[in-house]
This record gives sequence, structure tokens and C-alpha cells, in this order.
Amino acid sequence: MRHLSVPKSITEVWLSSLRSHGWLVDGAGITAEGEMRLLPLTESAPPEGDDVWQGHAVLEREALTRGPSHWAERLPSDVPADLMDALPSSYEIMGDVLLVKLETPLKSVAVDIATAMLAHLPNVRVVCEDHGVHGTFRVRHLEVLAGRDGATSTQTSVREFGLTYRVDPAKVYYSARLGNERRRSAAVLAEHASALGRPLVVFDPYAGVGPNLGLPVTEGHAAWVVAGDLNPDAMPLLQQNLEHLVDRARSSVEVTLHGGDGRAWREHAPFLGAADAVFVNLPHDAASHLADLVPLLADDAVMLGWSIADRDTEADLNAQVRDVLEAAGRRVVSLHVEAVKGYSTTLVMHRLVVRSTTGS
Ligand SMILES: C[S@@+](CC[C@H](N)C(=O)[O-])C[C@H]1O[C@@H](n2cnc3c(N)ncnc32)[C@H](O)[C@@H]1O
Repeated sequence: MRHLSVPKSITEVWLSSLRSHGWLVDGAGITAEGEMRLLPLTESAPPEGDDVWQGHAVLEREALTRGPSHWAERLPSDVPADLMDALPSSYEIMGDVLLVKLETPLKSVAVDIATAMLAHLPNVRVVCEDHGVHGTFRVRHLEVLAGRDGATSTQTSVREFGLTYRVDPAKVYYSARLGNERRRSAAVLAEHASALGRPLVVFDPYAGVGPNLGLPVTEGHAAWVVAGDLNPDAMPLLQQNLEHLVDRARSSVEVTLHGGDGRAWREHAPFLGAADAVFVNLPHDAASHLADLVPLLADDAVMLGWSIADRDTEADLNAQVRDVLEAAGRRVVSLHVEAVKGYSTTLVMHRLVVRSTTGS
């Protein structure tokens, strides 16, 4: 690339002159050569010896490029301008899998986008288009657009609170955004274990890959964990993750895997009246599952749930939960319902923590 060689002291003067003529290459650096500075020239800049250079030399030197600072700079130059304007401004990275939502007009350049992202982000192995969450299992419909060295698997590992979980966003629900909720749940379990004076029996019938169990197991607040999910793809990941958690636990923990519908756990006699704590992590249906989970509760037990409902309906949910427990002959010791995060313009995710006993 041609460079204009000027003394260091007048670099700024020449930079502004070159810029004003459109003769300075954007994105190429200035090279130092002793007391001289070499300014990168565009193709349209006049040749060596032109009067405009006022006697300064024009030299051929290797371009000092900084490399693109954004993945979009790595797209092929023939991507139409209207599509460049519609490029996604955000994406999510889960382990080494990148998930991106694309506007419909971008379909024709989806693979170019994925290839540019792979080239720009060395820690990403697979780029997928995210078509949103579907069905009872709340799984994202993912389309693999490009993979490093031909990789196509969406199974990966994520870290949360220093613990590792195997996840597969194409097959099993997992949300990294609920870490704070999980920390709060662990604190509730720690408090209940302290109240009972022993580690707890913890049931998680809607466990997914098991992130609710990480802190309670590793911090020594669980003695027996029963976990499962209706989604059969969740079970091998859940098993693997629980093995990892048990290895990291401060005290010994027994683990039982029990898949299938959470409402059917009550049909398994050893589970009846056994749980000191039950997670009801089924936000779209929690309320309708509660009654079937109550028979699992021990004499003094907490239920931790999440429910998506209309804004400002905490009092309704509160009354509904109380009714279910009292109809089953339990006494409500404490009941907290709290809106934790907006889900849509009208819906809100509520957090529910209820402690109840069999005593009157
Ligand atoms: C919102 S996700 C929560 C998963 C996990 N607890 C977490 O925090 O990542 C709800 C889970 O419940 C499972 N599920 C849906 N219906 C179920 C049912 N009737 N019985 C058991 N699991 C169910 C889904 O497959 C999904 O993994």
C-alpha cells in the first residue's frame, strides 16, 4: 500500500488534509519509521511527485491493519445496504454456542452472518438461528447456520456460581438469566435446613438440566435430592450434572432420578410426605400443578415456585396457593408472592415461597 512519508511534527496537518480529500485509508494504521510517519493512501490519491505532496515521498509499505472491531465488518462486501441496516444488534452466547434472532429479510445472508461471527469470535464453536421457544418443554427451535470445522452439535457447558452444567439449548430448557432466582432459592433452602436442624430432602420434578439444585447440593443443605423432567432429553444431562454437583458437595448427598409428569410423583409411595422442599419451576402451569404436589410435602415443608400471570395479580395467586394447601389440611406458616420480572407487556413472572405444616 502507498504511504505518504511526512515528518512526525506535521503528521496532524497532513492527516487532516488527506482526510478532507478522501485520500486516507480508513482502518489502516500510521507506521513510524524513525522521525518520519507513514500515512496510508487510498487508490485515488495522486502519484509520487505530484505537486500536492510538496516534495514529500510516497513509499510502498505493508499496510498496518488493525483488523475488524465488529463481526459485521467481516461480511462479504456485496451484502446489500438495506440488509446491513437490518443486522442483529445482539445475540446470546451459551457456552460455545451462539444464538441469534434474525429478521426475515436476512435469511438470504444468514450463513454469511454466521460465518462472519465464527471468524470474529474465537470462543464460539456453533452459530444457530434462534426461532424462539416452543411447546411444553419450553425448548428453543434452533437452526445451525455454521460450525467451526463442521461442528453441528448444540450440546455445550455453561458455568454458574462456579459450577458446570451440560446444556443443550436445542433440546432442553435452560436460561442463564435466572441465576439470581436460583441464588435466592438456595438461601430459602439454607434457612429451612437451619430451621429443621438438618440437610433437606429436596424434590425438583421440573428440573430441566438441574440448575436449581446446584447451590443447595454443593453448599450442604440437601441430603436427598429427587429430580426429573417430562422431557426425556433432559434426563441424561440432568444425571451428568447431578453427578458433578454431588462430587462438589460438602457433605454426602443421595440422588434419585425420576422422570415423567411431575403430577404423577404422588403415585410413587416412597415420595409421599417426604419432601422438605419442592421446586415448582413450571411458570406457565404452576398453579394447576400445585394440588398434585402437596401430597409430597413433609410435615414442615417449603414450596418454591414461579408463575407467569397478569400484572398486579399477586393477591390472587396468594389466595389460590393458600386455598390449595388448606384444602389439603395443611397450615400455612408463611406465604410470599412477589413479581420478579416482566414477561410481556401484560404478563409478569411471580416468585412464590410458601412454608406449610401438617399441624393446626
Ligand atoms: C421453565 S423450565 C425449568 C427447568 C429448570 N428447572 C431450570 O430452571 O432451568 C420447565 C421444565 O419443566 C418441564 N416440564 C414441562 N411439563 C412438565 C410436567 N408435566 N412434568 C415434569 N416436567 C415438565 C419442561 O420440560 C422444562 O424442562
